[in-house]
Amino acid sequence: MQLVQHKKEAYWFYYFLSNFYDNLVNPLFWTVRMREESLDIGKLDDPNLKVIDVGSGTGFTTQGIVKRVPAHNVFCVDQSHQQMAKAKAKPDLQDCTFRIGDAENIPYPDDTFDRYVSAGSIEYWPDPQRGVDEAFRVVKPGGTALLIGPIEPGNPVGRFFATTWMLFPPEKDYFKFYEEAGFENIRYVYVDPHWFTPGKTHFGIAIAGDKPMDAKPKPKPAPGDSVAVVSALKPQDEEMTVARTALMIGRVALGSLAGFIFIPIALVGYLVHGDRQKHLPPEMRETLNTEQKTVLGALAVGVVALAWWLGKKR
Ligand SMILES: C[S@@+](CC[C@H](N)C(=O)[O-])C[C@H]1O[C@@H](n2cnc3c(N)ncnc32)[C@H](O)[C@@H]1O
Repeated sequence: MQLVQHKKEAYWFYYFLSNFYDNLVNPLFWTVRMREESLDIGKLDDPNLKVIDVGSGTGFTTQGIVKRVPAHNVFCVDQSHQQMAKAKAKPDLQDCTFRIGDAENIPYPDDTFDRYVSAGSIEYWPDPQRGVDEAFRVVKPGGTALLIGPIEPGNPVGRFFATTWMLFPPEKDYFKFYEEAGFENIRYVYVDPHWFTPGKTHFGIAIAGDKPMDAKPKPKPAPGDSVAVVSALKPQDEEMTVARTALMIGRVALGSLAGFIFIPIALVGYLVHGDRQKHLPPEMRETLNTEQKTVLGALAVGVVALAWWLGKKR
């Protein structure tokens, strides 16, 4: 069903979420430790590299990139003005280049960048293969593309809510996207927040591959293809009839509800599994901030009030 896996829906989803993203939501699901472990396989090992960060959002992953490559060599692309405004305000990202644009139609010519990074954005791409093909196109021969995304949950209840919300590709699809795009030397690491217990599947994956030196660009889908039509639409260009607007509001509202279920799950996971981080250096430990503790407190009060009310009714 993937309610928010659409450019317009994703645009409006982030229009609102942007206000809570850095403090409340992102640190539960995408942490400094996960980011650093992911960037480690992206070959960001030379200060002269030219790097593109696609779906750069509020710049959390970009902040990891600029620790490895100077900010003036880093180019950020995102379709959300709200998200990009937050990134632009961060002192360590002042020298990055920011450009509004689409992951499936990256606004740069072929063979422009030494490295491509995209973290947590594939979930919203209507045609993820096209997004990975674009990574291949803009990277120079011999360059590397690193993509980080969630994995379809193995638990049926989690899978229902996750896939109602947005795209959670099965793990094998990431390899298919990379192989079909033409990447070689494909490698990966799993990325799990400490509160998540891997079972049949992991929480997320960071996958990297190199563009062969003799690579030929892959043709884009023909404009008549249905996927190509959805993919080519920029959120601001789509014509919005009353029916389409109502549908979009419904999809964003329902999709957000399905997604927000993961917030209390993660918050409770933090409480229950705090001891799993004892071995980590303090700067790598995932801890709850004041906003998150406030939400957790409010949730606890809500549960106690509900239990009391139910008890009184019996
Ligand atoms: C979960 S955020 C990740 C942000 C950032 N990479 C990070 O690490 O925090 C996903 C971002 O992808 C962006 N996005 C979604 N679909 C996109 C598209 N088709 N083109 C460009 N950006 C897109 C959203 O606007 C949002 O900022």
